Amino acid sequence: MRISLQPRAKLNLGLRILSIRKDGYHDLQSIFQEISLCDRLTIEALPGRRRIRLKCLGDAPEGPDNLVWKAASVFMELSDESLDISILLEKRIPARAGLGGGSSDAAGVLLGLARITGREDLDLFEAAAVLGSDVPFFINGGAAMVTGRGERIAAIPVIPFHAVLIHPPVNVSTPMAYSLWDAESDTYLTNSDTIRHDSASSAVWHEGKPFPHDLRNDFLPLLEKHIPEIAEVARFMSDSQCDSWGLSGSGPTFYALFRGEGEARCFSRSLRWNNSICRTADTAGASSNG
Ligand code: C5P
Repeated sequence: MRISLQPRAKLNLGLRILSIRKDGYHDLQSIFQEISLCDRLTIEALPGRRRIRLKCLGDAPEGPDNLVWKAASVFMELSDESLDISILLEKRIPARAGLGGGSSDAAGVLLGLARITGREDLDLFEAAAVLGSDVPFFINGGAAMVTGRGERIAAIPVIPFHAVLIHPPVNVSTPMAYSLWDAESDTYLTNSDTIRHDSASSAVWHEGKPFPHDLRNDFLPLLEKHIPEIAEVARFMSDSQCDSWGLSGSGPTFYALFRGEGEARCFSRSLRWNNSICRTADTAGASSNG
């Protein structure tokens, strides 16, 4: 049987790093919101000798290093199914961008294989958490307040907006970004107030800003200091007309949020960067149980 999926990217609408844990990971708090930018996954699986074949179009490895491959392997262990699996991954979400592309693809493989094998009874969250901290969110997607290492997910209503994404051409490694926090958190982040979540006020724009009003990302002051390209985009955004902007995940992708598509397109046209680093996306079609 064959199945096609479109795993979506996410934005972090505010991100607080709360503390380092005994296992070396960090407790965080963030609002994750799925957006329309997506990859394409075609999965075929037949009963047979355990085998995984992966073909990628775009910037992604084709072997066991790819989270998609690992997801297929973890699914077979969890379900005890012996499958001959072929996967075609077409990448459109930039890799290592803070947009959760690889995590969303991995969740897509777990969901796709559960559907193909009729094993929708399986608890995919545990398998997702084994694959990576951001993977559990993508099992249901939509919008959620995410805490813990990333595995505690409380759905909230989808926040309607159009976004302009600005992806400076630099690589930020997530472990490196966390180690900057470890080294400098005393200086920068002693008053890390938490994101307030008032479900009654979510999914509504107030005075030109979507919930949460404060889109502060604790990685930003650290990355601005160490990565000139990030500092440049942050300066530009501060000086711009848009006051609902932020950094997604550990970067380097920035977003600017607008209520209407026209405003987003107008902002996108006003940017001085070329089209290769800018895109638009929205939250239409993102489903949420919140
Ligand atoms: O879980 P994942 O493999 O995506 O995490 C990549 C790295 O990011 C981890 O090895 C860890 O260094 C860091 N991380 C963290 N705290 C989190 C999530 C990720 O320290 N909550």
